[in-house]
Amino acid sequence: MMLLQKGKEWKETREKFTTAFTSSKLRQMFPVLDSYGEKTFVGIEAYSLEEDSEVYWKIKAAIAPTYESGVRGICYFFKLQTLVEWMKLTFPQRAALDYFADAFQHLVKLCQEGNGKISNLIDIVSSLKNNDNYIKKYAYGDRKAVGQPFMFFIAGENTIIMSLAYTLYELAKHRRVQSKLRDEIREATLDDGAFTYEKILGMKYMEMVVQEIMRMYPPLPFLDRECTKDYTIRGTDVTISKGTQVYVPMLGFNFDKNIFPEPEKFIPERFANKSQYNQNGMRFFPFGEGPRICIGERFALLDIKVAVAHILTNFELEPLPDTPKKVEYTPLVFSLVPKGPIILNFKPLAA
Ligand code: HEM
Repeated sequence: MMLLQKGKEWKETREKFTTAFTSSKLRQMFPVLDSYGEKTFVGIEAYSLEEDSEVYWKIKAAIAPTYESGVRGICYFFKLQTLVEWMKLTFPQRAALDYFADAFQHLVKLCQEGNGKISNLIDIVSSLKNNDNYIKKYAYGDRKAVGQPFMFFIAGENTIIMSLAYTLYELAKHRRVQSKLRDEIREATLDDGAFTYEKILGMKYMEMVVQEIMRMYPPLPFLDRECTKDYTIRGTDVTISKGTQVYVPMLGFNFDKNIFPEPEKFIPERFANKSQYNQNGMRFFPFGEGPRICIGERFALLDIKVAVAHILTNFELEPLPDTPKKVEYTPLVFSLVPKGPIILNFKPLAA
């Protein structure tokens, strides 16, 4: 899986998959995202919900947060190799991967029959599976081949769904922001009532709202790196030795009042000029930074925006008595997953 690969193997894999997320590929995917806008799942779910929902829900059950999956994730991300070996852990869980293998075969079949709606990722995985050179160099067997699309599923699915849930939650609590955003959405569709890739990308207030959500609720709240050569931090006598694992507390940056005044408040306007935060060093990087920056960033932002645009066109979002005043996170996983349900009222708007 690319997430866990290093060096040349990572570089080669990354280059292949980057081609699935270019502007022209995103533009091609737009009608699919748009048609599933109200459900807001990545392409894979579009297939599995329609064609084989049992497999989908089995995968969901197998990757749902549990104490076991929490320990597994922590061991992998914090490089506790001895524990990984001692507990014979696999990442992802074997059961989840087995279910996913079924779904993957199903998708390949659909794409081969010409029924596939998004075949980019499947095409790339299939091309790697048929590339003798790559197979030999990186022992790329069936298991690894299934691991790649599975990785996109785990890296992309929960992050998008969580971000959307937090966006709707904050919009329900902040009616002025909600109404301003709805005005922008309506204005963009005054001509023919339809959304396009360009219209969604052109929504400036939408961009500010989504960035503010990424600040308050970064789905992955830290970054991890391994130091590849001894490095002395400029102006100090602190040296980070080669091989040290470095963790960057992104969530801490996002709630630092010296960078973001009144950090507990939801204020999309603070992102009217996003680049100000990274002018003198990196301060805001919800998708990471450098060569390992999230490969799905543009896809994720597009998907979230399409969903929000559809939802606000059709519904007024309101908090209910059971809506949490503040979101609490589950301690079972290292990503920011809410502890309990976020209940909201979707009041239909007159057409
Ligand atoms: C709101 C949604 C998302 C957020 C906030 C997010 C955030 C991140 C972050 C912080 C990283 C680590 C970057 C670094 O270390 O510098 C990452 C890596 C990654 N993300 Fe995302 N992500 C999201 C959605 C997605 C989606 C939709 C996909 C795929 C379709 C995806 C695929 C990946 C992959 C493959 C990596 C590893 C890249 C590599 O190691 O080269 N992510 N993401």
